[in-house]
Order: sequence, then structure tokens, then C-alpha cells
Amino acid sequence: MVDYESIWNILPFPAFVIDDRDYFIDANGAGEQLVQTSRKQMRKRCISDIFGTGSVIADTANTARHNHGSLMQYNVDVALLDQPSQSCNVHVGVMGRDSNTLLLIIQPTGVAQKMSRSLTHMAAARSVAAMAAMLAHEIRNPLAGISGAAQLLGMTVGEEDRELTEMITSETRRIGELVDRVEHVGDQREVTRKPVNIHDVLDRAHRAAKAGFAAHVTFSVEYDPSLPDVAGDSDQLLQVFQNLLKNAAESVSGAKGAIKIRTSYNSGVKLAMAGTHTENLPLQIEIIDNGAGIPDSLIADIFDPFVTSKANGSGLGLPLVSKIIAAHGGLIECASTPARTEFCVRLPVWRPEMEKP
Ligand SMILES: Nc1ncnc2c1ncn2[C@@H]1O[C@H](COP(=O)(O)OP(=O)(O)OP(=O)(O)O)[C@@H](O)[C@H]1O
Ligand SMILES: [Mg+2]
Repeated sequence: MVDYESIWNILPFPAFVIDDRDYFIDANGAGEQLVQTSRKQMRKRCISDIFGTGSVIADTANTARHNHGSLMQYNVDVALLDQPSQSCNVHVGVMGRDSNTLLLIIQPTGVAQKMSRSLTHMAAARSVAAMAAMLAHEIRNPLAGISGAAQLLGMTVGEEDRELTEMITSETRRIGELVDRVEHVGDQREVTRKPVNIHDVLDRAHRAAKAGFAAHVTFSVEYDPSLPDVAGDSDQLLQVFQNLLKNAAESVSGAKGAIKIRTSYNSGVKLAMAGTHTENLPLQIEIIDNGAGIPDSLIADIFDPFVTSKANGSGLGLPLVSKIIAAHGGLIECASTPARTEFCVRLPVWRPEMEKP
């Protein structure tokens, strides 16, 4: 028998049950702490008594009831009466099909950032940009000199030493590629967004993976064929999914390695953009693998540059992914347990006004 009362109280996030007139019916321990009121006292109050009239919470509750579904709002400012606001993710779900009773969960983003969600990538990209400029200047030029000299040398040395000059050439090429990747993460240009069929992009990434680094992996694909176009740059989105598939393929081993690519439409996800407006992010693309998973000690940092657990990894794949998704106004989340790692990319639907003249 499951003891739901204790699950309710163990939940680390403030959670509330709200009736059809917006009055509180119940709160868990974290909820009582957040509003500094006992659950008994809370029953005499409604949403506007606690969060103010016209608050994000009241709006989200109304929309969830109207849509008869659940709604996620990322990064919105939530204020209790008389208190400064704090940035939170808000989740509201209708409890039961014929009911107007709601479950409200508020997750301060200080906590959310401990989960792996990439919203701070722009700052990371900026710091990498400064480094890329330095690298390009200090490394690329001497590198070109070394590589040119090795090629000249290769023409004159005997057969037995040619291997050494070839090694210099291939290793300098490798450093050059690393500098390119750093530069790419730091590239701050805006993306030009056009209507893109995300399934075409996923098919390209999938084909390339199967023909190369993921030849050993079993793929399964679940597409929602009615998905509208995303507003995006297809080459950049291709890089996103190539990197995610590459990481997934590198994490699975042996004949049991499996990767699932899934798309779906989820109308209940919104992201507040720098307090100016809210962007709907209904397009959902998931890359799920059954590999070893991401260690707890690493998960909070995987979107930061140069974080890697691989001997030959540069730790630049996910920072690039998160920068591209941010430039598309989207969101990427990751959840990982030992036999299941899931990266979920959420993107906006294309609208004509998104195309810059
Ligand atoms: N699907 C996954 N399963 C397990 N761990 C993962 C997965 N995806 C990412 N990681 C972890 O996150 C780290 C960072 O990934 P990221 O792609 O940024 O760099 P990398 O793969 O190590 O190197 P690079 O992509 O530059 O070759 C990885 O080293 C790995 O520890
Ligand atoms: Mg990688």
C-alpha cells in the first residue's frame, strides 16, 4: 500500500491543491513553508490572497482549467504578497478528467538549476567567445606554421621518418579542429530562422549516426507526423541532434545499446523570455538512451564548457547544443538514471514574423 500522505510531504517542492473557486484545499510541508501559513489557515484563502490578483499563478491556473490539461511555465517571476519576487518554474495540472481541481507545483529556479537545464548558456558562450578570440590568434597562426613546415619536411625525409611528419600534420589538424569548435561555441551571431521540418533534420542526423559513430546501436524512431514546422536554422539544428546522438552512442555499449528518437506536441510548455514576453515551446524532441547514465557529480555542469568524463572528450558538445537551442528561443533539459538518459529539446513553432527581413 502506498502512503501518499508521506509522498506528498517528502516532495522537495512547494505543492498545493486548489479547488474550482481558486481556494486552497491542501498544501505539502514545502508549500506551508513557502507561504509561511499552515495548511489549515490556507483553506480560508484563495490564489489572489496569497499571490496577488492577476498573478502568474492565477493566469496559469485559469489557462490549465480552460485547456483541461497541464501547463508548465519556465522562468517566471513569482511573488508572495509583500515579498520580492523570485524566478520559478510553475506546473499546474487538472486533477481528473471531469474536475476543476488543480495541483500546483512551484519550483524555484535556484533548485531547478541543480537539475540539468540549460538557461545560462549565453553567459557561458560569451566567456568562450573571449577565449576563442585568444586561441585563434595565439594558436592558429603558429599552428599553420608548424603544419606547413611538417609538410615540407615530409617531402624530403626518408620513408622511415615520414610517419613522424604525418603524425605532426594529423595532430596539428586535431588542434585546429578543437580551436574551430571553441570558436563555434563562442560565435554570438543570431540565427536566421526559417520554417524547418524537424523530422528531416532528425532523419539526416539519424542516417549519419548509423553510417558512422553509432553503427553498433539499435535505433527506434517515434515521430508525431502532425508536428508543425519549427522556426530554425536546419544546419545548426542538425548539429544539435548529431551531438546528442553522438553522446548517446558513446554512452551505450555492446549489442544492447539502444537509442530512441521521439517527437511530440505538448501545448502546455511556456518559457518567459527575459521578462518581456512568454514563448510557447510545444515542439518536443527527445533523445533517450539506455547507457550508463550521467554521474550525479557531473549532471549539474554538463552544459558548461570543457566539462567531460571522456579521455578524448573536449566537453564542447553540450555547450554548443545549448547555445544553439538558446539562440532558437528554446530549452533543453536532461534527466538521467543508470539505464536511461533523456535529453528533451523544446522549440517554438514557426510563425511568419519570426523571419528577419
Ligand atoms: N547521453 C549521455 N549519457 C551519459 N553521459 C552523457 C550523455 N551525454 C552527455 N554526457 C556526459 O556529459 C559530458 C559532456 O558532454 P559533451 O558532449 O559536452 O562533451 P564530450 O562528449 O565529453 O566531448 P565532445 O562532445 O566535445 O567530444 C560527457 O563527457 C558525459 O560525461
Ligand atoms: Mg559530446
